[in-house]
Amino acid sequence: MKIAMIGAGYVGLTTSAGLAVLGHSVICHDSDKQRIARLNAGEIPIYEPGLAEVVAAERRHGRLVFSDDVAEAVGDADAIFLAVGTPSAPDGSIDLSFIDAAALTIAPSLKPGAVVVVKSTVVVGTSRRVNGLIARKRGKPDVSVASNPEFLREGSAVKDFLEPERIVIGTDDVRSRAVLDEIYRSMAEEVPIVATTTRNAELIKYAANAFLALKIGFINDVARLCEEADGDVEAVARGIGLDSRIGSSFLAAGPGFGGSCFPKDTRAFTATGRRCGAPQPLVEALLAGNEWRKTELARRVVTEARLAPGMTVAVLGLAFKAETDDVRESPALTLVEVLQQAGLSVRVHDPRAMEAARPVLAGVEWCATPFAAAHKADAVVVMTEWQEYRSLDLKRLARAMNGAMLFDYRNLFPSEAVTAAGLHHVSLGRPVRRPAAVQRMFGGRAADLKAVAAPASKG
Ligand code: UDX
Ligand code: UDX
Repeated sequence: MKIAMIGAGYVGLTTSAGLAVLGHSVICHDSDKQRIARLNAGEIPIYEPGLAEVVAAERRHGRLVFSDDVAEAVGDADAIFLAVGTPSAPDGSIDLSFIDAAALTIAPSLKPGAVVVVKSTVVVGTSRRVNGLIARKRGKPDVSVASNPEFLREGSAVKDFLEPERIVIGTDDVRSRAVLDEIYRSMAEEVPIVATTTRNAELIKYAANAFLALKIGFINDVARLCEEADGDVEAVARGIGLDSRIGSSFLAAGPGFGGSCFPKDTRAFTATGRRCGAPQPLVEALLAGNEWRKTELARRVVTEARLAPGMTVAVLGLAFKAETDDVRESPALTLVEVLQQAGLSVRVHDPRAMEAARPVLAGVEWCATPFAAAHKADAVVVMTEWQEYRSLDLKRLARAMNGAMLFDYRNLFPSEAVTAAGLHHVSLGRPVRRPAAVQRMFGGRAADLKAVAAPASKG
């Protein structure tokens, strides 16, 4: 099939490459001419494992080309995917202006019978509305609009495209159903296809992300309880996750969820609920809880490490999760803001995301290695679960530091290893460890023990 992609961002680029692997002929367009020039020069503007290799191979085979000419890209296409951004509007709903603009831009160039496929995450009813927009612009209803939501996790997006757990196809007419079936035909034997209406497809996407985010919010709340009740969230997560009704994934406690999808999609889900007169109180509470957690964990660094203005904190990890350079709504950004408001100097390191973070972080010191960031730092906070951090030489880190507090907000290190390096380990959802004598004095009650927090000096 001849396919056009509008938008060469994380989703559009990965999907273009994936569709080419399936054997289709793909022209990927972006309104950002510079982005297309970079792609044509063989440069991949984002970090996504495996993507550069697939893009290079598909370009070599002639199945993937990049074009800054929208009419050329869509003119001969059987299916035109829209993968432009859908940012949050101030009231939490989503801003569909890029979708509308893209639909109106391509409308005059579409060939009759073409199918426009909405890949961007959009609120229920958008595909139908886009159908109306295009028909009005063309003066006749001779193209169809379908919905085909993405479930690509950044960091494993290529694999998620090529080995999906399901494909959701939302169509409201036979022609678009036939085109979408043809696009995914080579996968249909192995992968369940959920063929439904465009409205259901749009709802599935939001419900999926809201549910996954609820799992994370839940385990983060359980982590807090474990801290206060001398429990261990990892034991609890394993104990509940082995129940197949619950499932073990997305139960890792962390500093709050971020990224370009969960925060935005859960906000849009609640805004849609309110608009439709069907409020979503669970997700409303989740959103408030996630914001609270990001700020609370940042404040915990200041109070538990007893930091005073002028002292220094090293932040290891800026990306919202490992294996991506994406910092959109990353909890690390909230942390830096809170630390700076407290008058602290902040030194940052990330193996991949420093370039993306530069435009959104001011007044920090950019460091080339974790040890450079930790140099004379009064506390170190690990925010992203990079493999490089998991195997960090903790003794070397301790030697570089001034203070002794290691805030491990991804539970990367065994407590024994941190303690052996002479550092005080603050991890998530694990019992608060204090010297045995103090434990006895307070009968082991973590809440009381907090009152006698260990001093923030080394040794
Ligand atoms: C995608 C989805 O589209 C979004 O709805 C979903 O919630 C998250 O994933 P993403 O690929 O991450 O967004 O967005 P981004 O990396 O910002 O890429 C969007 C691209 O579209 C940009 O390169 C932008 O230049 C391009 N664009 C935007 C167009 O080509 N045309 C436009 O009219 C607007
Ligand atoms: C998400 C969806 O998973 C994917 O299907 C698609 O709809 C796009 O949005 P992505 O945003 O790339 O993918 O990342 P994801 O792996 O879902 O993580 C989102 C956030 O939750 C990250 O901040 C991550 O650190 C956090 N998270 C995830 C946890 O804190 N604990 C977990 O167990 C899992």
